[in-house]
Amino acid sequence: MIVRPLEIDDFPAFLDIQREALVQAPEVFGSDYDWFEGLSILSKEQRYERYLNYPYQYMLGAVDEDGQIVAMIGYSGNETSKLRHKGRIWGLYVRTGARGKGLATTLVKSVLEGAREVLGVEQVQLAVSTQNVATYGLYLRLGFTVYGTEVGAMKIGSSYVDEYLMSKHLV
Ligand SMILES: CC(C)(COP(=O)(O)OP(=O)(O)OC[C@H]1O[C@@H](n2cnc3c(N)ncnc32)[C@H](O)[C@@H]1OP(=O)(O)O)[C@@H](O)C(=O)NCCC(=O)NCCS
Repeated sequence: MIVRPLEIDDFPAFLDIQREALVQAPEVFGSDYDWFEGLSILSKEQRYERYLNYPYQYMLGAVDEDGQIVAMIGYSGNETSKLRHKGRIWGLYVRTGARGKGLATTLVKSVLEGAREVLGVEQVQLAVSTQNVATYGLYLRLGFTVYGTEVGAMKIGSSYVDEYLMSKHLV
C-alpha cells in the first residue's frame, strides 16, 4: 500500500472510488451520484484536475499493488497571505473492504504533517455530519475540537444533515 497525492493517470481509479463513495456515503461529498454520473467524462476530468495542485489543493490516495485507490482524502489550502495559515480536509473515504486497518488515521495524519511541515499551516478545519459517530470519534482522537455546528448543512432528499465544524491547531 502506497500513500501519495493522486495524479492525472489515477483518474480512472478515482472515478471508481468516487462512485462507491457517492453511493455508500452520500453525506460525505457535496456532489451527488446522479449529478456526477450525468457529467461528461471531459467535465469530470476537468474537475478532477483542479485538485492536482500539490501541496495547495490535492487528494491523497492509499493505492494498492493493483493500482486501485482503496482510500482517499482531500486537502484544500489557501495561497493568499491572509488565509494561508488555514487549510481544510474534505472527502475522507475508505473502501468497505479496506476499513478497520488504520488507513483513515494514516491519511489524516499525512495531511496534517504535510500542511504543517510543507506549508507552515497553523490550523486545519473540516466538517463532519453530526450523525457520523465513527468519523467524529476518529477526528476527536486525532486532536480536532468542535468550534461550531452548521444546522442544515446538506439536504439529502427531504432530510437535512447537520455538521460539526472542527479544527485542529498545529502550532
Ligand atoms: C470512517 C472511515 C473513514 C474510517 O476509516 P478506517 O480506515 O476504517 O478507520 P481507521 O481504521 O483509521 O480507524 C480509526 C478509528 O476509528 C474507529 N472506527 C472506524 N470505523 C468505525 C466504526 N464504523 N464504528 C466505530 N468506530 C470506528 C476505529 O476503531 C479506530 O479507532 P482507534 O483509533 O481507537 O483504533 C470509513 O469507515 C469510511 O470511509 N466511512 C464512510 C465515509 C465517511 O464517513 N467518511 C468521513 C466523512 S467526514
